[in-house]
Amino acid sequence: MTFTVAIDGPAAAGKGTISKAVAAHFGFAHLDTGLLYRAVGRRTLDGVEPLLAATTLTAEDLDASDLRSPQVAQAASKVAAIGDVRTALVDFQRAFARRAGGAVLDGRDIGTVICPDANAKLYVTASAEVRAQRRFAELAAKGQADELATVLADVKERDARDANRADAPMKAAEDATILDTSDLSIEGAIAQAIAVIEARR
Ligand code: DC
Repeated sequence: MTFTVAIDGPAAAGKGTISKAVAAHFGFAHLDTGLLYRAVGRRTLDGVEPLLAATTLTAEDLDASDLRSPQVAQAASKVAAIGDVRTALVDFQRAFARRAGGAVLDGRDIGTVICPDANAKLYVTASAEVRAQRRFAELAAKGQADELATVLADVKERDARDANRADAPMKAAEDATILDTSDLSIEGAIAQAIAVIEARR
């Protein structure tokens, strides 16, 4: 049995948390596609050319310890605007989506480009202020405190680049259910996501 769940949305909207919980609930595999772009972006910070980094990505690259840093996030957003880099990562994502037993993929273009025929599609969003506040708290918990205003500027810069690029821009698929988590608890957001997917099964 294949069953594909596409979860898209901007940075720090809760996609990752919701995707992991949904995958655990249904027993599906989960792929955080942002990690692929982060791993490519990470290698460009070492001076590797973006397309070469994308075409020679290894499992080890996905294990680099600093993939979640703000610097790598910005590098990821930059390489993600390069069409050839995106193309190099398509087959891996589509193969993952078709794996037996069900799959959840989260990213920016899963419901629109990677899996337009996904069985269930969610677009998880929240206001930029709420997302910056969440990212700020996450960084502070890791001892990487930045000014809240810097985190907000970072979130907005990445949103603008991801939404305005020519190739596979971040946007909700026409048939996606929009889940705004600005005023939801984590548990509430997860429950709503599960209900949307349950209704498609
Ligand atoms: O989800 P994330 O914050 O880890 O993603 C990092 C960057 O990668 C994001 O700014 C845009 C890019 N990305 C993308 O273009 N397409 C995806 N499917 C996932 C991420």
